[in-house]
Amino acid sequence: MTTVFKDVGHWNRFRNEMPNTTSLGCVPTLGGLHEGHLSLVRRSLEENETTVVSIFLNRVQFNNASDYENYPANFEEDVAKLKALGVDAIFSPAHDQLYPDFYRYRIIEDEESRSMEGTHRPGHFDGVLTVVMKLLNILRPNRAYFGEKDYQQLQLVKKMTEAFFLPVKVVSCPTIRDANGLALSSRNRRLTSRGLVKAARFPEILVNAENVELAVAELKEAGFEVEYIEERGGRRFGAVVLENVRLIDNVSLNVADAQLRSGMSRTSRQAEGQLK
Ligand code: PAF
Repeated sequence: MTTVFKDVGHWNRFRNEMPNTTSLGCVPTLGGLHEGHLSLVRRSLEENETTVVSIFLNRVQFNNASDYENYPANFEEDVAKLKALGVDAIFSPAHDQLYPDFYRYRIIEDEESRSMEGTHRPGHFDGVLTVVMKLLNILRPNRAYFGEKDYQQLQLVKKMTEAFFLPVKVVSCPTIRDANGLALSSRNRRLTSRGLVKAARFPEILVNAENVELAVAELKEAGFEVEYIEERGGRRFGAVVLENVRLIDNVSLNVADAQLRSGMSRTSRQAEGQLK
């Protein structure tokens, strides 16, 4: 049975009654659940006796009002998907339950959160880290699951749990892609069917371009507005805009990923060919 908790006190009573020997896995989400989220949920269900999924559209992490307003949230659909998987609990509080202080207190990371996504979305990571800290303190999971699609977020959350000695293991899970190689994201729903196919050129170019400059040039040529392409720690990161939809992705530059590279090229070119 899946129980929906909208109130912190209600959750606390449930959590306090859980035996210490029962492991709790948590999957924090903004809602608008797709296969990417569900892969994290499945992993948590496999590795823990109890799984809680949080659905909370965290206003303070959206630096852009229209991105917040257009976020494709659908609570009833999300609950149905989670029930079908056999999730034990859904935590979905109202905004003032999590922010009784009106966001006066917040977590700020002062270095890595200022680059890439942080440069283009000022204040974004303050909002992410603050809500994740609140959720981890309230839910008290043994493991928390995050996707590599938001790699910078994943690293910042991991390092925050270390910096604050939080007793939780952050589990990183691989990016889930569609048949053309496009990373799944709730925002993909705002693309037209033509845009959806075209968007697959983004990971293809990200993974195949010889260097950052060529990646930028090829993406522009393919019709994307490029926010940034950067390389660090053996990965290439990027953010682009297509049809007013912002897409982010990152890929490993390891030789071992060459197979993925050639697979991606083939599928996305075939799909584009079908559009012509
Ligand atoms: O990745 C997300 O969906 C959000 O940033 C998160 C981690 C749920 C925090 O609101």
